[in-house]
Amino acid sequence: MNDIVTIDNLKKSYEEGRIKSLNGVDLNIKEGEFVSIIGPSGSGKSTLLNMIGSLDIADEGKINVAGYNLMNSKNKKLNHFRSNKIGFIFQLHNLIPNLSVVENIEIPMFTTGLSNRERRDRACHLLNLVDLADKAYLKPTKLSGGERQRVAIARSLANKPSIILADEPTGSLDSKNSKKIMNLLINLHKKSNVTLIIVTHDLEVAKLADRSFEVLDGKIININSFNTT
Ligand SMILES: Nc1ncnc2c1ncn2[C@@H]1O[C@H](COP(=O)(O)OP(=O)(O)OP(=O)(O)O)[C@@H](O)[C@H]1O
Ligand SMILES: [Mg+2]
Repeated sequence: MNDIVTIDNLKKSYEEGRIKSLNGVDLNIKEGEFVSIIGPSGSGKSTLLNMIGSLDIADEGKINVAGYNLMNSKNKKLNHFRSNKIGFIFQLHNLIPNLSVVENIEIPMFTTGLSNRERRDRACHLLNLVDLADKAYLKPTKLSGGERQRVAIARSLANKPSIILADEPTGSLDSKNSKKIMNLLINLHKKSNVTLIIVTHDLEVAKLADRSFEVLDGKIININSFNTT
């Protein structure tokens, strides 16, 4: 398998260099792989994920994702990358409260040239996938935390991304709902062969991945392999 993410000596600091969030990260992730990223609070996990999704730009080093050089690409290219290659799932789902569930899922599709009908059909298909077809026309505030996170998963799949980036996707859920969300993500990964990168503080969740990267003080200090079949 080819590498879909290659990162060399990546550095990122904030506050004019006073806070060093990434301190020389090296990693490779293969196409279709499921990896987890673990480490204590403040170690740089979200920063790393945001770099992979090009939500923020690194200061130094190399980062190539799905064929895009994220250090040297123009904004237009990066926008295309973000909307077509990456599906993001956040800890607190970031759904828009005054739009219905189905409209939330349609938002990323507005850049793709689909007709209204095609957008709605695809959003309904995705809602079916996460078992929420009956909640399509409700506002997210009427949904439980687990249901909202399922909507966020459906939204992340809107443009058939190559990579799903999930930052603590089960962080706000109880253990029963966490299991449900993880099973859903893992099944999607198995079915579609999408590359799945999950940040988690939950070791049980981390161990479900093929490999787990351990981050400390902005560096990867350990790589564990679990499913070595
Ligand atoms: N936009 C920012 N401005 C200033 N400092 C930041 C910014 N983003 C992150 N940091 C700092 O960089 C360091 C790493 O933050 P990051 O969010 O990557 O940690 P994390 O491992 O995701 O932690 P957590 O488990 O608590 O989510 C922290 O010291 C944080 O305060
Ligand atoms: Mg974080």
